[in-house]
Amino acid sequence: MNRTTPVIPQEEIARQRAYCAEIRALNARLERAPAAYVDTYGCQQNEADSELLRGMLAEMGYEIVDTDRDADVIVINTCAIREHAEQRVLGNVGALVHGKRRKPEQIICLCGCMAREQHVADKLRQSYRHVDLVFGPQVLWRFPELLRRVITRRGRVFETGDVPGAIAEGLPVRRSGRVKAWVSIMYGCNNFCTYCIVPYVRGRERSREPEAILAEIRQLVEEGYKDITLLGQNVNSYGKDLGEGVDFPDLLERAAAIPGDFLLRFMTSHPKDATEKLFDVMARCEKVAPVIHLPFQSGNSRVLSAMNRRYTREQYLEKVRALRARIPDVVLTSDVIVGFPGETTEEFEDTLSLIQEVRFDALFTFIYSPRKGTPAAQLPDPMSKEEKSANFDRLVEEQNRISLEKHQAYIGTVQRCLVDGLSDDPRNNLNARTPGGRLVHLSGDPALVGQFVDVEIVDCSTWALFGEKR
Ligand code: SAH
Ligand code: SF4
Ligand code: F3S
Repeated sequence: MNRTTPVIPQEEIARQRAYCAEIRALNARLERAPAAYVDTYGCQQNEADSELLRGMLAEMGYEIVDTDRDADVIVINTCAIREHAEQRVLGNVGALVHGKRRKPEQIICLCGCMAREQHVADKLRQSYRHVDLVFGPQVLWRFPELLRRVITRRGRVFETGDVPGAIAEGLPVRRSGRVKAWVSIMYGCNNFCTYCIVPYVRGRERSREPEAILAEIRQLVEEGYKDITLLGQNVNSYGKDLGEGVDFPDLLERAAAIPGDFLLRFMTSHPKDATEKLFDVMARCEKVAPVIHLPFQSGNSRVLSAMNRRYTREQYLEKVRALRARIPDVVLTSDVIVGFPGETTEEFEDTLSLIQEVRFDALFTFIYSPRKGTPAAQLPDPMSKEEKSANFDRLVEEQNRISLEKHQAYIGTVQRCLVDGLSDDPRNNLNARTPGGRLVHLSGDPALVGQFVDVEIVDCSTWALFGEKR
């Protein structure tokens, strides 16, 4: 079998970088370096994409700033996962019209998952005339060319059509942190869970070459990064399109063999594809953090089937058992949807009992939000909003109790934590993470940021642990 995903030829990437140089030359004529602001919504994939956008903008001679106020270029990298996320973006983009009145030469761009929704593109075209450039995630690598088109023609540009995804290597990147880094290993999704918009807006699954990924990780480690997260909508199907016989556990094991003091994480894992081979690699490789985000979505097998998740409650629980048999203290986090169309209160009770049985360390809870074009949006949805919210509140309350108990069990233990940033709290000026990724507040020398330190856990809340450096 051969590789089925096209790779963008390096000449094409060189052409994009030539556009960067062209814009840089234009910018160099200005009195001061123009400013660019990139605002990110949604998941870590979008965070990683924004680091590429900033890399390209920096190469074009823009100073990267952290406010849209007076920026010469504003890029809004959007998320379409729930209605609420979209409303927030549209509200914020709408408000940008005032800044642009003061600064008419400002360029406003909207990209990311919302850009691929027809109704959003139509709305932007008709009612948000201050937005100059709209482009989807599949053409992110062509941003220099598209921006140049806006600058030189002063017209609006829409590149929102359905283009097959490809892999673009060799784009400049400007990372946001110096301790933690994201590495996208694949893009898109083939799973078509019936509630989810991602496969429609991000396209089919496509994997980067293992060598390109490993080279990037090696470089990050050399630069001193200590915490590296491998990203994909379903990392467990990594490599299927490569035809090389390399799967995700193989990639993870090879990444963990890179010399240096660092931790590897990954997300997200679809339970149907999380294998014992993966759990074995996690157990075997010290550099793979003992944590997994394994979204279950529902504890009821009928609902899971209606969601097209392709596992049952029992199969999910079996995966958790297989994992805990190998890594007893593994940190387990998950996503769940309350109020999927047709979910009854009894079926919701199964979700509640599943979290009691598994006892996740943390849970991301969502109320179902219908997405245009997805099969679930067509299903009858008789349960009232009030009833859904009441179920949601019960779930959150129960999980908070479990999270607190889980945190209490850390008290008195010593954890090797990575100090990953400063906090605003003067009594606990440092933030750190346990190997399993739990947040720890402690006080200490700011120079410890980027170092692993032994921390004794002395207190906790539902959301965080409090520690003292040993
Ligand atoms: N690829 C990841 C999930 C990406 S979206 C995975 O398969 O787990 C993150 C989470 O958003 C999902 O796990 C799901 O719980 C939630 N989500 C997705 N679509 C949703 C919708 N239409 N309404 C409510 N929550 C949704
Ligand atoms: Fe969406 Fe399902 Fe793909 Fe996750 S696996 S991105 S929930 S379709
Ligand atoms: Fe949102 Fe797109 Fe990520 S819809 S969750 S930004 S893949």
